[in-house]
Formats: sequence, structure tokens, C-alpha cells
Amino acid sequence: MLVQTITPNTTYEFAAEVSAGLTKPGQKELPSKYLYDDVGSALFEVISHLPEYGLTRADERLLRRHAHDIVERLATPVAVAELGSGSGRKTRHILEALCRRQRTAYYPIEISPSALAMCERELSDIDSISILGFEREYLDGLLEVAAQRRSGQHLCVLFLGSTIGNFDRPAGTRFLAEVRRILQPGDSLLLGTDLEKSSAQLLAAYDDELGVTAAFNLNLLSRINRELDADFDLAQFEHVARINHEGRSVEMHLRSLSRQTVRIPAAGLSVQFLEGETIWTESSHKYSHKEVFEMARTAGFRCVVQWIDEQWPFAENLLIAE
Ligand code: AVI
Repeated sequence: MLVQTITPNTTYEFAAEVSAGLTKPGQKELPSKYLYDDVGSALFEVISHLPEYGLTRADERLLRRHAHDIVERLATPVAVAELGSGSGRKTRHILEALCRRQRTAYYPIEISPSALAMCERELSDIDSISILGFEREYLDGLLEVAAQRRSGQHLCVLFLGSTIGNFDRPAGTRFLAEVRRILQPGDSLLLGTDLEKSSAQLLAAYDDELGVTAAFNLNLLSRINRELDADFDLAQFEHVARINHEGRSVEMHLRSLSRQTVRIPAAGLSVQFLEGETIWTESSHKYSHKEVFEMARTAGFRCVVQWIDEQWPFAENLLIAE
């Protein structure tokens, strides 16, 4: 077993993106990828255990049940790259099945160093595995992985947990097309997509009774305080989950409870908030099982199998690069 990590420096980019999002005319926004610092990643791990949030458990159930079948369908020899590995708990099922067939190089790509470390710890006991983690944005990391590919070796990319849903629909398809451009014909992409469900179920999942999702969302303001020396008063903001019927998504916002000014020195910024004004922090798009085939085709893949969970509408889709 080999575990290594490659890391970058990103504070400057964080300040620039916070500044762009909070000075945008109209709806203020912050990129959802910044929800995942050490605290945010730990809170997301807790969310994945909440009774209201069945998404991660559905994803894991499908991977556990179908790991053998999934692995049988991959062209070999194959290396595995994962976009946003999280804790690595779900991935274990695929890697164990694959390592029974061949020695496997696994490349987790994560912007959260703590999630990357957790995933490396979780999976390093698997026999016949080597792990090389990349602390990178997804596509930058995938380009580096592709550059390491040996001749004749295929690549299987895992994009689980419906993280695709955190892009808007056109951006999601564009992202898949970017992934496709890095791959070669016959390579594969295992894509997890959360499917449409009732508004009541979605609101409960994104505004849980215990307030863990609220803490996950508010932590973004704490993170700006910690890393950019800002003075957000968390008691003056509240978490809001909202259904966007037209977009077929659930949105998270942070609503200002008063008229206030927040200073963010490291971004060279003072931001005014009206009472009731929100910062849009995340959208989670929900899919019909049929539209995944179309998205895949537009991006240059063929969806060859789809497995759907019986308890929580969620699909695992195996896409092959054409
Ligand atoms: C990571 N991502 C797919 C989660 C989701 O459901 O959109 C993040 C999350 N946001 C609130 N709860 C969980």
C-alpha cells in the first residue's frame, strides 16, 4: 500500500471568489465547493447519517449490492480516479471487488485535505491497492491522473453521491463533457444521481430537525471569518432550504436577519445586507432516471446500465466513453 498526497495553496482564490459572489448585482452567492473545509466535511459526514437524508445510504447500498457486476463491466487493466472522494466509505465496495481481480491504483481527487486524509486512512488496508491523493479541483486532478496512465491501462472515474447535482443542468452536462475529453474511448464513468422526490421529503433532507444542515451551511460564514478575517455575526443569519420547482432543485440560502454591514479585510471588502436578503450557497438538482441517458449522450458517453435504489430514489449509472 502506498499513500501520498499532492497539495496546492488556495487562500487567494477563496478571497477572490468570495468577493465576486458577494458583490454580484442582484442575488448574492457563494460557491458550494467552499462548504467543505475540515468542519464542513465533518458536518457533511454527519448529514450522511441523518434519517432525513437518505442519499448517501442509497448510494452506498447500490455500490455494495452491485460492486461485482460493476467491476465485471469495466475494461481491464484499469486504474480508478474518484472526483470528491469524501470519507471513502462507499468506494471501498468497488475497490475491494476490483482488487480481487488486479492490483489497483486509486487516485482520490479532493479539495478538502481532511476528507482526503480520512479517505486514505479508510481505504489503505485493502490488499493490492496503491493510493495517490490529489488535493486539487476535479478536472485539474483528473488531468494529472490521466498523465500518469500507463499504455494499455483504462481509467474508471467515480463521481458518486450526486455531486453532479450541485452544478446547474447545463453546467453538469458541460462538466461531463470535460471529463470525457480527458478520457479515451472505452474508459468509464460511474455516476451517482439523486432522483426526483416529493418537496416534503427534500425539505426535510435539506433542513433536518437537529440542525446539522443549518450548521453545515452557516459554517461557510465561520470559514470566511476564520480564513479571511471577516466579522460575520452568525446569530444574524439563518439557514433556509427552498424548493426551486422550475429548476427541479433544492436550494440552500443564508438569510440576513437584520440590515447589517460585514467586513472581510482579506478580500478588501465591506458588504451591506438588507433584512431578509439571502446568500445562495448551494443547489442540489434532482433528475428523472431517463434524462441521465440523454446527459450522458450529449457529453460523449453511452449509459450502459442504471441501477436504482428501492428505498430512496437514487440511480447509479455506468457510462462508457464513446
Ligand atoms: C455533496 N452534495 C451532493 C450534497 C447534496 O445533497 O447536494 C451536499 C449537501 N447539501 C446539503 N446537504 C447535503
